[in-house]
Amino acid sequence: STKSLSLNTGAQIPQVGLGTWQSKDNDAYRAVMAALKDGYRHIDTAAIYQNEDQVGQAIKDSGVPRAEIFVTTKLWCTQHHEPAKALDQSLNRLGLNYVDLYLMHWPVSLDANSIRDGNILSVPTKEDGSRAVDITNWSFIKTWELMQELPKTGKTKAVGVSNFSINNLKDLLASQGNKLTPAANQVEIHPLLPQNELIEFCKSKKIIIEAYSPLGSTNAPLLREPVILEIAKKNNVQPGQVVISWHAQRGYVVLPKSVNPDRIKTNRNVFTLSDEDFEAINNIAKEEGEKRVVHPNWSPFEIFK
Ligand code: A2P
Repeated sequence: STKSLSLNTGAQIPQVGLGTWQSKDNDAYRAVMAALKDGYRHIDTAAIYQNEDQVGQAIKDSGVPRAEIFVTTKLWCTQHHEPAKALDQSLNRLGLNYVDLYLMHWPVSLDANSIRDGNILSVPTKEDGSRAVDITNWSFIKTWELMQELPKTGKTKAVGVSNFSINNLKDLLASQGNKLTPAANQVEIHPLLPQNELIEFCKSKKIIIEAYSPLGSTNAPLLREPVILEIAKKNNVQPGQVVISWHAQRGYVVLPKSVNPDRIKTNRNVFTLSDEDFEAINNIAKEEGEKRVVHPNWSPFEIFK
């Protein structure tokens, strides 16, 4: 799909973008090259993905004019106190002089000093190897106050958030220092986690929703759902296209991740689902129960309650 949606800044954002979480090294480079060749004009990365170098190199090598591509990156939790510096570092790795969208990756700040491997672009772990968060004496309200100054520098065209619940957004919008409404909220959405209330809330505030892990993340568990397989067969399309078309039909940005050139290509070919098929996909969560599949045990999700 070459369709675009409008951000509250007036900018256009291509509805289907390439996700790059877990795309490593040369895979990330090749994925972005393949995507841009196939007509994608929207690439989503983040400092924590540790692939900004490869993503930026592919953008450069693709020969596609920079102005035609919508690029998003994200502020990692260890740099909530210094988003301007973090953005400079991301731009440096990307080899770009601006991004189109800069997101606060999580409404959680992590103490960089608590990181034992010395790499601030990592998630602190406990002695037993499990993930731990160290919520410092800081709030995402302060982070947002610093972030909302960034569009003035021209280094990002827009700022937004990610992994924000309705309550997080309400707190942010009601905060004293708030001057800007986030342009976007990027969250986990797929047929097992439809996020209907969050989508409605963001729509009412003119915050664009972006769906990450739209296929259910690693190994795309959604694509084994009998309902999806049946609809794919009936329409003579790939199961991935069915799920991505369902997202597109719901009217928000969808960011399928793939490093496979064939899947990258088909993922962008959205089609119109019949009302009946659309409803059948809506019913998956009603029948199976809602399920977070990304970081189900990671404590930042406590904040969604
Ligand atoms: P790969 O990168 O090898 O294609 P999500 O977008 O929900 O995060 O899902 C990403 C996962 O789904 C990755 O494991 C990715 O693997 C796989 N994937 C992406 N597109 C498709 C597709 N069309 N069919 C099957 N698996 C896919």
